[in-house]
Amino acid sequence: MNLKILHLVFLVATGIVLSAQGSSLRKIPLDQGWVFNPSDDPAFADVGLNDETWRPIRVDINWDAQGQKELIGYAWYRLRFSLPKEIRDADKLKEGVLLALGKVDDGDQVFLNGEFLGQNGRTFAPGTKPPEFRTGPWDLERVYRLAMDDPRIKWGQENLIAVRVANPNGAGGMHGKGSRFMRLVGLIDFVDFQSDMTPFTFQGNEVVKSFDLVNRSTSNAMTGTLIIEAKELVSGKKVIQNRKNIDIAPSERMTVNLQLGQREEACGISYQIVFKDGETCEYREESPYILTPPAPSSPRINGATLFGAKPGKPFLYTVAASGDRPMVFSASGLPDGLTINAQTGIITGTTPARGTYKVKITAKNAKGEAVRDLEIVSGDRLALTPPMGWNSWNCWGLAVNEEKVVASARNFVEKGLRDHGWTYINIDDGWEIAGASPDPKRDGDGNILVNNKFPDMARLGRRIHDLGLKFGIYSSPGPLTCGGYTGSYQHEQNDANSYASWGVDYLKYDWCSYRRIAKDTSLTELKKPYEVMRDALAKVDRDIVLSICQYGMGNVWEWGDSVGGQLWRTTNDIADTWESMSDIGFSQVDNAPYAKPGSWNDPDMLVIGWVGWGPNLHPTRLKPDEQDTHVSLWCLLSAPLLIGCDLTRLDPFTLNLITNDEVLAINQDSSGKQAYPKIKEGQIQVWVKDLHDGGNAVGIFNLGDAVTDFEVNFEDLGIKGQKKLRDLWRQKDIDLLKGKHSVRIAPHGVVLLKVI
Ligand code: GLA
Repeated sequence: MNLKILHLVFLVATGIVLSAQGSSLRKIPLDQGWVFNPSDDPAFADVGLNDETWRPIRVDINWDAQGQKELIGYAWYRLRFSLPKEIRDADKLKEGVLLALGKVDDGDQVFLNGEFLGQNGRTFAPGTKPPEFRTGPWDLERVYRLAMDDPRIKWGQENLIAVRVANPNGAGGMHGKGSRFMRLVGLIDFVDFQSDMTPFTFQGNEVVKSFDLVNRSTSNAMTGTLIIEAKELVSGKKVIQNRKNIDIAPSERMTVNLQLGQREEACGISYQIVFKDGETCEYREESPYILTPPAPSSPRINGATLFGAKPGKPFLYTVAASGDRPMVFSASGLPDGLTINAQTGIITGTTPARGTYKVKITAKNAKGEAVRDLEIVSGDRLALTPPMGWNSWNCWGLAVNEEKVVASARNFVEKGLRDHGWTYINIDDGWEIAGASPDPKRDGDGNILVNNKFPDMARLGRRIHDLGLKFGIYSSPGPLTCGGYTGSYQHEQNDANSYASWGVDYLKYDWCSYRRIAKDTSLTELKKPYEVMRDALAKVDRDIVLSICQYGMGNVWEWGDSVGGQLWRTTNDIADTWESMSDIGFSQVDNAPYAKPGSWNDPDMLVIGWVGWGPNLHPTRLKPDEQDTHVSLWCLLSAPLLIGCDLTRLDPFTLNLITNDEVLAINQDSSGKQAYPKIKEGQIQVWVKDLHDGGNAVGIFNLGDAVTDFEVNFEDLGIKGQKKLRDLWRQKDIDLLKGKHSVRIAPHGVVLLKVI
């Protein structure tokens, strides 16, 4: 029998990634033959509708990539396929069939043979009225499970799937590299490797994990063999090879313990189950490692060396310094009007008159002393180095509340992140009163009202500032935010005033429903709402960084600075997948010339740690090497660094990723330059960033799936006469031989160097 490989991302109760094999599942591929109509009509679900004039469309890439760039609103996809009765006859488990449709950006409703089936990957009972929907979880694999006798399925006949897609902004349509198909539900669909929700931990230096393998079937036992193999990715060294019989009763579980020992690189681990009837499934993951030595106990001053503020406005800058506490801070050359708190290193006061002030900061503790220069530039520009902080969106989505924001601020301090330069605590969407709420959206004076999750914004601002951190907020120039909350349209000055009264330091201003207001997509219309908010912010007595969010429309990098932005999103939303992160990160090329102090291209927030865009979080789906690539690339790109995870759940690997001061210094380098790709050879890309000290940061990335050797010749990168080479993740000097350096790089991994 011809075994076919089904690579599927299948979400049962949790989100597990299974690669499964088994011809007994009778898979019918549904990847080809789709047709498309870029308009909206309920009749498009009907079986009898003539769709011969609809245009053929691919479903693995979004419609923007297929000539529908400006399509905002609804559109339909249809596919006809035949469903042999033989599939029904082959069903032994009596668990039904699966329909997998890939991803849909942003929201979707699915109809099978004219009947509503479900939306966003959930099945609804026959005859259920389609619930209203606005947007959906655009990065979720849509998978429907149907009973064998579901009346919506037509066995032995032609069937019709119709998908109605809603796209309120940015890219749209069916997409995703996974496959689309219909097949029998098999035993493999009941395997729940809870490994994906159970991160590795470190016992001393040893990498360990213990997780449950659960049989989710209520009627069938899981009987077969479990084969576990682990080997180091780069060296190829075998670490575990283990096979055992399993027999897990319905609804039962068994615990799997894994001990990988001390590792300086990722292990690739495979858990394979071979069932008695021959079906197999496999779950793969990679283990974390710690590359960076701990910061010394003596003081080390980190973070930005350049800080911009506007004359006469309230001033707040916190000296970031690692090392044992207590620590005593002092500053010489501080201009009049500013004072430093000796215990905390927080500098406050009123920004002095225009000019550049060179200050010497000293931090002392029982182990020693550190001295470093800080340049305070009083003028028109803010964010002279890329903002570093936390934003609520990638973790909590609209489920954010005051308690979660305060917990993030406290964790910045308690976990020592503030000591490495992490500063902003930004609330994204979800603090305002809901746009659809019958309650008033604004008070009698037109001031915005908050929802009950944020009872006192001024108090929240004070709590954040007291910790030496800065407070960020979110709105839309349209009547509604992307999440359906009240936007700033026609109340821009009210909102700027409210923000100032709450102590806001940063505003992310997200296009969203402004598309209904803009007359067209001309530059004048694209710029207008940001100019209005720029002027409103200019009238308040605070420095408020303006973060433009409109997904890169009209090459925003060419004019974002002129409409008052310090940073601007260059892309659609990021997701915690290699596909999304690498597509975004490695395409940041044309915008590079526009990066400079106070003007940053924003390829969206970091997707490391526990993320989830809602109340239920999961560990990022990026593998450890992919996370190194993510952070290294964002640092090379001089991208704003906004951590988007739950800071109360930071594992040692994630903490290591965001506290390596030599890596962060590349991001915060005062030259403000953005890296360029200098070499593209096969799957290797070498990106180079010029640094203020005449040195260069060099990222050698392996975008491929195999371990790859590469020899970099620095002259090929235009770097001449270099003397010193340093591995930034390991914080180790490397011998430089004849201007060349050979590296072996893990799949999707990076080697990050500084050459000087
Ligand atoms: C858009 C933005 C996201 C986030 C959400 C909030 O999708 O791109 O970063 O702010 O809106 O609704």
